[in-house]
Formats: sequence, C-alpha cells, structure tokens
Amino acid sequence: MCGIIGYVGKKEALPILLQGLRRLEYRGYDSAGVAIANKGKICRVKSVGRIDKLTEKTKGKNLAGSLGIAHTRWATHGGVTEANAHPHTSCGDKITLVHNGIIENYQEIKEKLGAKHKFVSDTDSEVVAHLIESCYDGDLRAAVEKALADVRGTYGIAVMSNDEPDKIIIARLGSPIVIGMGQDEYFVASDPTPLLPHTKEMVFLDDGELAEITDKGVKTYSLEKQKAVKKEVETIDWDEAKAQKQGHPHFMLKEISEQPHVLQDAIRGRYDVEEGTAHLGGLNLTEEQMRKVNRVVFIACGTASYAAMIGKYAFERLAGISTEVDVSSEFRYRDPVVDKNTLVFAVSQSGETLDTLAALREAKRRGAQVRGIVNSIGSTIARETDGGTYIHAGPELAVASTKAYTNMTAIMLLYALQFGRLRGVSLGTGKKLIKALLEIPAKIESVLEQSDEIKKLAKKYSKYEAFLYLGRGVNFPVALEGSHKLKEISYIHSEAYPAGEMKHGVNALLSEDFPVFAIATKNQLYEKMLSNIEEVKARKSKIIILANEGDDKVANLANDVIYIPETMELLEPLLNTIPLQIFAYHMAVLLGRDVDRPRNLAKSVTVE
Ligand code: M6R
Repeated sequence: MCGIIGYVGKKEALPILLQGLRRLEYRGYDSAGVAIANKGKICRVKSVGRIDKLTEKTKGKNLAGSLGIAHTRWATHGGVTEANAHPHTSCGDKITLVHNGIIENYQEIKEKLGAKHKFVSDTDSEVVAHLIESCYDGDLRAAVEKALADVRGTYGIAVMSNDEPDKIIIARLGSPIVIGMGQDEYFVASDPTPLLPHTKEMVFLDDGELAEITDKGVKTYSLEKQKAVKKEVETIDWDEAKAQKQGHPHFMLKEISEQPHVLQDAIRGRYDVEEGTAHLGGLNLTEEQMRKVNRVVFIACGTASYAAMIGKYAFERLAGISTEVDVSSEFRYRDPVVDKNTLVFAVSQSGETLDTLAALREAKRRGAQVRGIVNSIGSTIARETDGGTYIHAGPELAVASTKAYTNMTAIMLLYALQFGRLRGVSLGTGKKLIKALLEIPAKIESVLEQSDEIKKLAKKYSKYEAFLYLGRGVNFPVALEGSHKLKEISYIHSEAYPAGEMKHGVNALLSEDFPVFAIATKNQLYEKMLSNIEEVKARKSKIIILANEGDDKVANLANDVIYIPETMELLEPLLNTIPLQIFAYHMAVLLGRDVDRPRNLAKSVTVE
C-alpha cells in the first residue's frame, strides 16, 4: 500500500527520493509524487502511473535541493488522479505533506476549517495539510502536534513547510514510519527496505510519537506527554543485495529460488540435534509456563494463515495442545475466548497487516500470551508482541508470498517440537525430525530444478479457466496455498478442498473443463487420497498429481505427474508447496500478468 520516502542532508534529494520510490513499488501503488525544498520554495511534481512516468515529468523542473519528501499512493479516498496523488499542500503551499493511513474524521475537519480553505483533491490526506496550516504560528513542530490532536484515524506523515525549509516533521499513529540514520544526513520511510542502500541504522517511531529532522540531527517526542523521548537506534541486518532482482525476471521467481538458502537462515542456531529439540529464545516463557499452555491460537491472513494451518497440525501432533487458526479479520470482531494459558501467535510477513495487529491487541486485552512470528524486522507486530521469532526470510518484495510462507512454516514446526519435547515427544522422534528438516533445503533445490518441466505443464493447462486443488491432512493447507498463489497472480479462478469433503458438494463441479491438482505424497492418508482421485478421474476431470519419486501407482490415475522427494509427513508442506508456487508463477507469466504486482493487491495491507 502507500509508501513514504524522505531525505534531509547535503546531497541532491531528487535521485535519492526517486530511487526510494522505486524500492517502494513492491507495496503496490497507482500514482506517485515528490516535493523538494529549494530556496524557501517547495516544488512539487506528481503523476498517475509508474515511477518512470514521474521521473520523466521531473525533468526540467526546479527540483534542486537537499530536503524533500515523496510518496507512492494506493487509492483509498478518491480515485486515481494526479490531484489525489501526494504530496498534498495547504492553501498558498505553506505546508506540504505525505500521508499513509486513513483520517476517519476528515469530513468533520473539512467543515470546521471552513470555506476559506480551498481543497483541490478528494483525499482525506489533503485535509491534514490544511489543518496544520491553520495551526501554524511560526513553529512547524508545534503546528503538527496541535493539528494531530484533532485527528481521528491512522497516520504516518512527513511534513515540510515553506517557512522552515530545513526540516521534516514526521509522526506516527497506526501507520509505520522509520528514520534512517546517516552521517549528516537522515532518511525517512514507511518501511526499512528503501533505506537499505543508505544505512542499516534505523529508529522506529512508535504510535503517538513525532520527530523533527534536520541535517544536524533527529529529535523525538511523545505527542501525548508533549515532551522529548529517547529512542534506540536499531541495526537492521538485511542484505541490500537481497532487495534486488539479481538477474531474475521477477522478484517472485527470485524469492522462490531463494528458499533453500533462507530456510537455513530461519532454522540456524535454533535447533539442538543432541537433545532432539528446538530453542526459540524469543518465546520468553519458562519451561513451567510452557507446560501450562493449554491452547494455541494462530492469528494471520492469507498465505500466513495457510502456513499457520500447518502449525496447527504440528502443535496438535507433537505437543498435544489444542490449536486453532483464526483469520485475523474474524478474530478481532468475535468474542474470542482466550486466557492466560492461551498462547496466541500473530503470524505475518510484513508485520504490518492491520487486521492481524488489531487481532493481537484484542488477544492481549483479553489476557492471552501473545507472540509474533514475523519477517519484517522492527515492524509493528514484532514490536507489539511480547516476544516471538523473526523468520529471517529477508526482504520479500513480490506481492505473492513464497519464501516467507516456507520460513513461517519451519518456525512453527520448531515451536511445536520445542513444546512437544516438554510433553512426551521422544528424543528419537525429535532427532529424526531435525535430521529430516536439515535435509529439506537440498530437497527443495531438486524441486527447483524441475522448473522447466513445470513450465511445460503450465503451458498445457493455461487455457483452462478454473482449477481445483485437493489435499488431505497437512496437504490440505498446501492445496489452499497452491490455489491462493494461482488466483492472486494469474487471475484464474481456483478452489481448494480437503479431498474427503468432495462428495459433499464440490463433485458437482467436476468436468473435463475443470482440471484438478491433487497432492498425493506418501503419508498416512495416501491411500485415502488415491481413492478420492479415483472419484475425480471417474468424472473425467484432467488430473495433475504431486507424488513422491518412485510412486508408480499414481501414473495410471493422472494425466500428468510432478515427482518430488519424500520427507516426514509434518515436513511435507515445506516441499510440496514449491511446485505449486512454480506452477502459479509460470501460468501468470504465460498469461502476461504483472507477476510481482498483481492487480488490486498490495504487499502490505495496512487498512481494513
Ligand atoms: O504480511 P502478511 O503476512 O501479514 O500478509 C498476509 C496476507 O496479506 C498475504 O499473505 C497475502 O495473502 C499474500 N498476497 C499471499 O501471497
């Protein structure tokens, strides 16, 4: 969703801001703009469409200067027009601002400001620029503080003024904003990714905080307490190169291919072969507290929720703890029953998904222990949970989540093992699981080598308009994830079902025009799965089967087979999902879709 980048220093701001905007593209946007302070005047350029178009428009404009802000907009209030693009200004251009989030009482503020304020956009954001102007009395920080006291909703803002062209004021409530700390130069952004080429030293504002940034330094304040607050500088150890395509045509393909490597990053130092267990220190629970946990609840959205379903199987099987997966947008509005012995995991790649954030706050309010399983370092979910684990997938920039899914799954398996070893999982089983887990990266490599074969398959099936994915047990969430990947990037309709459920309704859909992707690797439900596939075959659907190497039974049932290596049942999703990711990727490419930025979707969903 919307992205912010800002610069204060001695260098020319424009190239830094344009580069920053490009690095924010992954979040999804439909328009963009930039504003730079030059000799007491702020010059602004905005454009609908891609950053390339904005870059073209900046040529020949008076955008010299070493202080500026820029924005990528993902339309919420008001259509995709240049007028609605940020930065917005107040009357007479005194105040210039970029905003992420939603101002709920913007109509009310607009009416209060009265007719002397002329609004040129349909956005809620522009209203805040006018409000700050109406509070301005020669001190930009004081004006922003005063204005924000009247605002209801969420914001991450960066504000400049003609009258004080040496500073940027930023503030946060519910929408992240990060300061990158350089040498006599400072950066501002809505997430750490665009800052990585410049610095790894970052300060994360918390909700209700404001910062005044000049090339002399950064001063941070609490809006509520109206006084200075001291913030820690955090080092983000993400590798800048990982935020580049590195020769791949799409981020998604690069991220799929990184999985063997990043899976090792996720588990490194977190298992103990001798003890057959895992040590995830961030859990912040003593063994005694762990023994008291009688329920686990995963809250998550989209792909993270499918990974969490695998976590459910693992927790129930290894730890014998009753486990649920709740989609965050449902959990937050129900009356979820949780108590101090309920361990709630908020699972999120971005760490900013608003529904998951709201759900974790609700769980905390109701007295549960809340931990995070998060990728983005320093993100809001990571900060608001009382511990948890970073999954170390590195920057994931394609909208379609791949490597983060794999790493989330691995971390949940390790958590389940850690709890399981306290509750009856034998040393032998623990050792076996870790040994099998350590073999997964090489096995993923061997699946990746089949990309060209899977591409041929995608070509063969790309004419179909709907697909069905079937799995059972741990492979049901795999089917859900395969179907999710296909629909979000190729726009092909697809459904996923637990195969045993077919005869209760979905069989009616089966026909020659409805190919079925069946996951039938050799686990305890293998025979049952084969019977379900027989039923599909009898109804003439084309069938692609995902089977284990050496399985010659499936060939008679399938039109096509993808063979993959065997592993322990609980670990199967780590392997079985990979061909489904590759299949969806090739389908999307063949159909000419915008693979990394599919229509109507954003990487980080920071609104409801
Ligand atoms: O950042 P999160 O993991 O919290 O995001 C959750 C979903 O929005 C996300 O998984 C979404 O479904 C992806 N587009 C899946 O590829």
